[in-house]
Amino acid sequence: MKVLVATEKPFAAVAVDGIRQVIEEAGYTLDLLEKYTDRSQLLTAVADADGLIIRSDVVDAEVLDAAKNLKIVVRAGAGYDNVDLAAATAHGVCVENTPGQNSNAVAELVFGMAVMAFRNMYNGTSGAELKDKTLGIHAFGQVGRNVARIARGFGMDVSALDPYCPDSVMEEADVKPVHSVEELYRDNRVVSLHIPATPETRKSVGYHLITLLPKGGLLINTARKEVIDEEGLAKALRERPDIKYVADIRPDSADALLAEFPGRVFFTPKKMGAQTSEANINAGIAAAHQVVAFLRDGINRFQVNK
Ligand code: 3PG
Repeated sequence: MKVLVATEKPFAAVAVDGIRQVIEEAGYTLDLLEKYTDRSQLLTAVADADGLIIRSDVVDAEVLDAAKNLKIVVRAGAGYDNVDLAAATAHGVCVENTPGQNSNAVAELVFGMAVMAFRNMYNGTSGAELKDKTLGIHAFGQVGRNVARIARGFGMDVSALDPYCPDSVMEEADVKPVHSVEELYRDNRVVSLHIPATPETRKSVGYHLITLLPKGGLLINTARKEVIDEEGLAKALRERPDIKYVADIRPDSADALLAEFPGRVFFTPKKMGAQTSEANINAGIAAAHQVVAFLRDGINRFQVNK
């Protein structure tokens, strides 16, 4: 059996070593395709793979057609919007993710970017502190929960909105449950986005919600660029010079936004929320164990295309 690790954005070397150990101890072979620049490289590499470990790499019908032996794809990470689930099901391929494994890394970056924005992008002028400010967490999944934990250390007043999460889970974490999206944006100076990219959430955060933010509002996006309505964002930033937007995913209109709103928007050059050795080790090795558990014992606990 062959397991291919295909990562356009590679894991830290130490994580690859750990993945290799798990795969080889199971008696399988590991193939590594890192930093590929052309899709054809992935199509060739996947041809004889029984298992596939990816990050944000796109796995669509074309890749699945090329992967004649493929039985399982594990997205080493949380969001699986890069995998065509229907096509995978049609090809009889199990798709899994590794929930929670990289969530602390993403949550820490939220605060790295929040401090930067509150200190005026480190331009030397007087900024503000996070202490005693309100924070609204938009979706209380694994990343959102880590954000809440860290926010307590900063002394922030935390609320969260998540129709899929019981109020009691939030309350146990000392987080105030909020039941309308308008309330979340209206009542929190900082809003941190953690919703997945789905047809329902696509462009769901735009002018209407962003302009509800209180004075000095900050929107932090470490989720997906697709959830933002970029035209609405630009209009909101134009009308409300007190608002800032910082994101770990470069929007399509990044250059225009940076030119029009200098000092008020910031984008990492490449999505790096999960780019820590710890997150790479956690997610990568979890993915390797999941591939082995599936190929060897048919265990599909984390399957997302059931
Ligand atoms: C995730 O969904 O797990 C994060 O967005 C991280 O994505 P990455 O593995 O491409 O860095």
